[in-house]
Amino acid sequence: MKYLYDAGTAGSKKLLLLHGTGGDENSLVDIARFLDGGCAVLSFRGEVEEDGMNRFFKRNGLNQFDLASLEKETDNLYEEIKRISAEKNVPLSDWVLVGYSNGANIAAHLLLERQTPLTQGLFFHPMSLGVHEKQFELKDKRIWLSFGQGDPIVSPESFNELAEAFDSRGADLTIKQTKQGHQLAADEVNQARNWLHQLPM
Ligand code: MLT
Repeated sequence: MKYLYDAGTAGSKKLLLLHGTGGDENSLVDIARFLDGGCAVLSFRGEVEEDGMNRFFKRNGLNQFDLASLEKETDNLYEEIKRISAEKNVPLSDWVLVGYSNGANIAAHLLLERQTPLTQGLFFHPMSLGVHEKQFELKDKRIWLSFGQGDPIVSPESFNELAEAFDSRGADLTIKQTKQGHQLAADEVNQARNWLHQLPM
């Protein structure tokens, strides 16, 4: 996969970035730098193309997910995360997955459906993809989710289904609601920053 890597400064957070539909590996870099100025960054470009837009898995229309593509791309992404982390000497448990929209959805799926040493996720405007195959405990996971009350893409039901999937399996869950839609709002990014800085290193 195409990716951008920046080792950042010693003692800073390590942020693994996954963009929304139509973005690329640069899309979340400014937000990452706001979240933590000296952060290490590993940022991927989704390999699925939809009308010229990059995504992390296929869909057949709005919120009609291609689940075979989702599973394949989740495995592919995880292999890439492992490969690059080993190459750069970053323990998997150091990463904070930071995703927006489509990128948040595949990252949440990775944490819910694959047993991995990844433990931290900061997900802007994610939704349930409706897959709940695995039941292993998520007590080691620290998860932050945001939801826009006026979001035309993510329904309250779909957001709540995702939150419940983390909560019922023991994840340490923080939820930030905004009055806005699918876009990032300043107050949620500020709250994400505060949450990130209270995480143990
Ligand atoms: C998705 O397809 O993952 C969600 O609908 C979010 C989006 O990319 O719009």
